[in-house]
Amino acid sequence: MDIGDMLERMRDPLGAPFYPPALQVLLVVTWVFHIFFVTLALGSSAYAILGFLRPNEYRLRLARVAARLTPNAVGLGIVTGIAPLLFVQTIYDPIWYASNTLTGFWSVSFIFVVMGGYSLAYLFYLKGSADGKLLWSAIASFVLPFFAGWVMHVLASVSIRPERWMEWYAPNGVIDTRGVEFHSWNIPRLVFLLPLQAGLSLAVVLTLFAWYFRRIEEDAPFMNWVANQGRWLGLAVSPLYAVAGLLWAATEGVEFGIGVPVGIALATVGLALTGYFFFLKQPMQQAPRTLLVWIVSLLTVGVVREAIRAVSLARFGYSVSNYPYIMDWGSILLFGVTTVVDVAVVTYLALVLYQSGGTQRDTQVSPRVERFGSIATGMLGAWFAFFILVGLYTTFMLK
Ligand code: HEM
Repeated sequence: MDIGDMLERMRDPLGAPFYPPALQVLLVVTWVFHIFFVTLALGSSAYAILGFLRPNEYRLRLARVAARLTPNAVGLGIVTGIAPLLFVQTIYDPIWYASNTLTGFWSVSFIFVVMGGYSLAYLFYLKGSADGKLLWSAIASFVLPFFAGWVMHVLASVSIRPERWMEWYAPNGVIDTRGVEFHSWNIPRLVFLLPLQAGLSLAVVLTLFAWYFRRIEEDAPFMNWVANQGRWLGLAVSPLYAVAGLLWAATEGVEFGIGVPVGIALATVGLALTGYFFFLKQPMQQAPRTLLVWIVSLLTVGVVREAIRAVSLARFGYSVSNYPYIMDWGSILLFGVTTVVDVAVVTYLALVLYQSGGTQRDTQVSPRVERFGSIATGMLGAWFAFFILVGLYTTFMLK
């Protein structure tokens, strides 16, 4: 059996529940949200540490905000990680499960690492950030999620190199089931995806934070300072991002024969961001646009990651477009309705946040938003009730 046969036979015999290329698109899109929040968590926790280590009035104030942001961002990063996990398991199951097995010790430890990082970020926010105590917990809440990102990176890298799995499974013919070795990591890819994107996600959110509170007049000097910090950080990191992108292209890109397009795409993103931050004269006022620019950049990176995976697997005839599928209307309905209900609830929360908008006045949310909120939460309640009924029905009525 050759590698192509092996990959084909490892696919779910029932096939995917929906048209696979659509799931591939969702994989890339949901990964963008995931990487945005996890890198924001790393960026904000790094800022909190530095702010407490080298304090002045503004830095200390911002460090406390960052300490508060970190657990929220880690939480959102974990939640938004589940979506790409769902899709990667559906259309890339052979490679994802193989890499999780070959790195078994760490893929299990990963859960505890993430739990530890999340809990310690909370500990620092609740008990340490008021007066800069428990700084070790802030440092640990940076190191642990960073390590989780490293494990993610190794899983992704191992998964796209099936030709080496046997060598890793049985080095010199002796089976090694420990799963403790980190294989095939790529430092430029990691530096690009984690620390540099952490800097950029933080830069963008700093401008957004200042924009959100722009109407509080007495805070204007602080908010201007925060927005400018965001701009300078973006300007400092973007050129490094372009360089790391080129190095990623020169290593992994060249390995899979697509060094030139990968290099052009990633360097363009880095240089475009450099230009954007350079010409960004009003970082506070233009923060929503900056967020949009960053999301488009992350989407480009998501597509590049996907292209590398597709090209690597095409060597063995594996392609998402020929993954078998059967339309599973039950799953599609559950997925579709859950998405509609959740998007409605999240939109309602975002509208409330927006309308209560960064002032200390006792602002009222408009009746239209209130009505929308009642409908959204009503739908959520109805959906919960439906799930419970389905559970009861399958438990007691289906044998
Ligand atoms: C909290 C710390 C985390 C960090 C810093 C992190 C970071 C990353 C990074 C850097 C990648 C890309 C790796 C690469 O392409 O080389 C990635 C991919 C991924 N992450 Fe996370 N992650 C974290 C937690 C999670 C969690 C808790 C989940 C699941 C619930 C998750 C699900 C995924 C999935 C499924 C992918 C791969 C998607 C694909 O291959 O297209 N991550 N993550």
